[in-house]
Amino acid sequence: MVKIAPSILSADFANLERDIQRAASADYLHVDVMDGTFVPNITIGMPVVRSIRNCTDMFLDVHLMVDKPVRYVEAFAKAGADLITVHLEADQPARIAEALRIIGNCGLKRAVALRPITKAEAVLPYIGELDMVLVMTVEPGFGGQAFMGPQLDTIRQVRTIIEQYSPSCELEVDGGITPDTAPLAVQAGADVLVAGSAVFGAEDIPKAIAALRGAM
Ligand code: DX5
Ligand code: ZN
Repeated sequence: MVKIAPSILSADFANLERDIQRAASADYLHVDVMDGTFVPNITIGMPVVRSIRNCTDMFLDVHLMVDKPVRYVEAFAKAGADLITVHLEADQPARIAEALRIIGNCGLKRAVALRPITKAEAVLPYIGELDMVLVMTVEPGFGGQAFMGPQLDTIRQVRTIIEQYSPSCELEVDGGITPDTAPLAVQAGADVLVAGSAVFGAEDIPKAIAALRGAM
């Protein structure tokens, strides 16, 4: 069954503990970190991750949309992340590899993310070191955008690469996931669906999570 990772970007930050508890039936909790440089938006940093760590046992999937993430991965590991995702476009290949090494040495799971412009083959140099690949189905930076249909091809291509080189690596899809688009992403090969507005914008959060999980 597909895993669901609610993105707290669409939660009520003044009631974050309450919203996290409402999402407790999900598999991962997705934390979007934005620096105002790699993406135009600014969200949250290490202190918030530390506070989240203190109020939940959920698996914390931390998506770093920051420039030169090698500077910050150890701090996010210490703050309580379980998995850290760095963007392939955020630094030179050697420094992305170094960031992944640090994440692994901290005992965390390692992931890379692809902006919509980035080709699936870009994961090849790293695939043996990865626990997850994140395919963006919106331009990173904001919640509530529409799912980019052409990214289904990238999802399929990354799925093929994973099957060939690292079958235990998970494929996560992030952006515009709704009960309508979730089945498309799953059919294309997604193992994990990130959903912000479709979860925290819903009246009944557990029901919204179950609806996405029912995607076949
Ligand atoms: C966008 C973030 C997403 C975002 C998804 O840059 O990476 O995780 O929260 O939000 P929805 O599900 O509303 O598209
Ligand atoms: Zn995200």
